Amino acid sequence: MKVHGQPMRTIWVEPDGWSVGIIDQTRLPHAFVTAQLTTMEAVAHAITSMQLRGAPLIGAAAAYGVCLALRVNPSDENLEKACATLAATRPTAINLRWALEEMRRALQPRAPSERPSAAYRRAAALCDEDVAINHGIGTQGLPLLREAWERKGQKGRLNILTHCNAGWLATVDWGTALAPIYLAHDAGIPVHVWVDETRPRNQGASLTAWELGQHGVPHTVIADNVGGHLMQHGHVDLCIVGTDRTTARGDVANKIGTYLKALAAKDNGVPFYVALPSPTIDWTLEDGVRGIPIEQRDGAELTDISGRLPSGDVVTVRITPPGSPAANYGFDVTPARLVTALVTERGVCAASPEGLRSLFPERMRG
Ligand code: MRU
Repeated sequence: MKVHGQPMRTIWVEPDGWSVGIIDQTRLPHAFVTAQLTTMEAVAHAITSMQLRGAPLIGAAAAYGVCLALRVNPSDENLEKACATLAATRPTAINLRWALEEMRRALQPRAPSERPSAAYRRAAALCDEDVAINHGIGTQGLPLLREAWERKGQKGRLNILTHCNAGWLATVDWGTALAPIYLAHDAGIPVHVWVDETRPRNQGASLTAWELGQHGVPHTVIADNVGGHLMQHGHVDLCIVGTDRTTARGDVANKIGTYLKALAAKDNGVPFYVALPSPTIDWTLEDGVRGIPIEQRDGAELTDISGRLPSGDVVTVRITPPGSPAANYGFDVTPARLVTALVTERGVCAASPEGLRSLFPERMRG
């Protein structure tokens, strides 16, 4: 996608050929700042501090974290240590573990001296694959938006609600839930996106609104609790969100609050789509509510809020009474029965074991 008209990805190898460049997402939307990561520890910190975030992007970053570790020491021990450190950064998104497993599989059989260059090649290929997969999600999802627009008699605008940031900032490029929206906008469908602010980290208000704005997609930021009201009054034609882990039966873990949107969508007959690249599927799990680990983050993300003063200074202020404890759950699980369909790079399917296996027959047991 483009920033100030210039095409760019969210992660890259710097011109020195080894250090890793990222967009520092903690500075958006107030400032567009890039950061240069030179150690595996810096990559791990960038993931935990959410300088970069989003399931596919943390997988890509972890792959480059392995590259930086092996550049210093390509031994078996250091490969294992790097994978363990990076895997421990965030628990919910399966893409992180998937990418580390891909790196381990590509590197373990090689002689240590060959590992650094092989690691950079594999990490670059993972990034290219992510871009191709997400563009595929866009082309597979576009007909759903076109059909919704036709069902509406092509009148007014196509109102789409999304939660969190599942756009290009959450991936290497294109995004997952936002990929079909970008393609629909480019195809001339008059889309308008309701952007949930997504407390407490405000990925919707800060990131989704910013990237939609960069691409010229009409949108409106709403407080997290508004969606149900809009659906009751016919102001949402469809919902589409991303996911950090989807089980083999189609249960979906995504940013906290997604489940409530899915319930409201079901109650109001609004289609609720989930867009996902295949590395987000955890084929080892069925029951997402019981099986998916839910990240709990520092309560300060909830008790304190930051914003920009008219002077341009960014300030953080406390919004809760000093003694009140805060619980900060990062994700929730939406059961498959509330999901209208899953949109993958291979096609659209029911959120069910049969649906997923029809698109990924190589995963068929027995
Ligand atoms: O905590 P975050 O910002 O990493 O959470 C991101 C989300 O929940 C996204 O919706 C999800 O990763 C899907 S993104 C393509």
